[in-house]
Amino acid sequence: MNVGVLGYGYWGPNLVRNFMQQDGFTVVALADLREDRLKVAGKAFPSMQLSRDANELFNNPEISVIVIATPASTHYTFAKKAIEHGKHVLVEKPLATKSNEVAELFELAEKHGVKIMVDYTFLYTGSVQKIKKTLQNADFGQIHYIDSTRINLGVFQYDTNVIWDLATHDLSIIYYLIDERPYQVQAIGAAHMGNGVENIAYLTLRYRSGLIVHLNCSWASPVKIRKMIIGGNKKMIIYDDIEPTDKLKIYDYGYSMITDEYRHNVLVDYRLGDVSIPKFSLQEALSVMVEDFYNIVANNGKPLYTPQLSIDITNTLIAADQSLKQDGQMVNL
Ligand SMILES: NC(=O)c1ccc[n+]([C@@H]2O[C@H](COP(=O)([O-])OP(=O)(O)OC[C@H]3O[C@@H](n4cnc5c(N)ncnc54)[C@H](O)[C@@H]3O)[C@@H](O)[C@H]2O)c1
Repeated sequence: MNVGVLGYGYWGPNLVRNFMQQDGFTVVALADLREDRLKVAGKAFPSMQLSRDANELFNNPEISVIVIATPASTHYTFAKKAIEHGKHVLVEKPLATKSNEVAELFELAEKHGVKIMVDYTFLYTGSVQKIKKTLQNADFGQIHYIDSTRINLGVFQYDTNVIWDLATHDLSIIYYLIDERPYQVQAIGAAHMGNGVENIAYLTLRYRSGLIVHLNCSWASPVKIRKMIIGGNKKMIIYDDIEPTDKLKIYDYGYSMITDEYRHNVLVDYRLGDVSIPKFSLQEALSVMVEDFYNIVANNGKPLYTPQLSIDITNTLIAADQSLKQDGQMVNL
């Protein structure tokens, strides 16, 4: 299948490389508004058709798959156009900025008999797959909290704030791992560049089961941290994506309430067991994602997640934006 890639900035080249490596896909055309980016692409791929006009990809009958790696605010329009031209489409996160747009794109794809998938890259990592299996095991107990830090000296986006850029990853991971959805979200942030786009934000999600989730997102940190702690009452996980190999540590630690023999005092009984470092595939997540996308497009394979995951993520991001504007008021979901 011939593939056309839209957007060759920071992330586009990673997608092109992985689509080129996938049997059954060939990237034949690229479009980017920036001449300098097309020049870079032309040097790497001399036979590639290059254009500044996205329509050249949509109107090319040889192309059956469009990959969208342009800024977030363009995703909905480009994805819609691709579908209406009968192309399968792989869209970078976030899929769209309104939940009705997300639902519309999935419905439209079904109507036109094409596939649409969002690149939630982290779901394709061996680590997230391993966490999913670990949580499904009954001996993990009840999950009480998730605390995630996703900070670095990142690319300051101009069209979306840090929540849409970074919290999308955390939400995709958490919503994939846990079926329950939060009922309230709170977000506090700051925009230091004078353009009203928050570059630092803290999100809190509250769940009816008592689970509490806290996300720390920043483009202004001197160090890159990608660390998530998942705390259960019987086990706890530390997921550190920056670690080259030992990304996961499972702590056989727990706590429970006990009372003394006269039932006067409530005490906490701590259990400190072993710490294990599970092994899993370290294959590049993007290559697994592209392989999965190929299987969906070519063999009608089952996607890793349903459209509802994208809708839930979008609704949470919209509510978080609302909370930001209301100076951190809790917003119901
Ligand atoms: N999955 C991940 O882990 C991951 C990582 C980084 C970025 N992303 C996503 O990838 C997307 C792109 O991010 P980026 O960091 O590469 O941004 P970027 O700004 O570096 O690149 C975007 C490119 O799109 C081009 N572009 C913009 N409007 C265009 C148009 N109308 N027609 C043609 N080209 C156009 C720009 O010229 C630019 O070269 C974003 O949605 C971002 O969230 C995903």
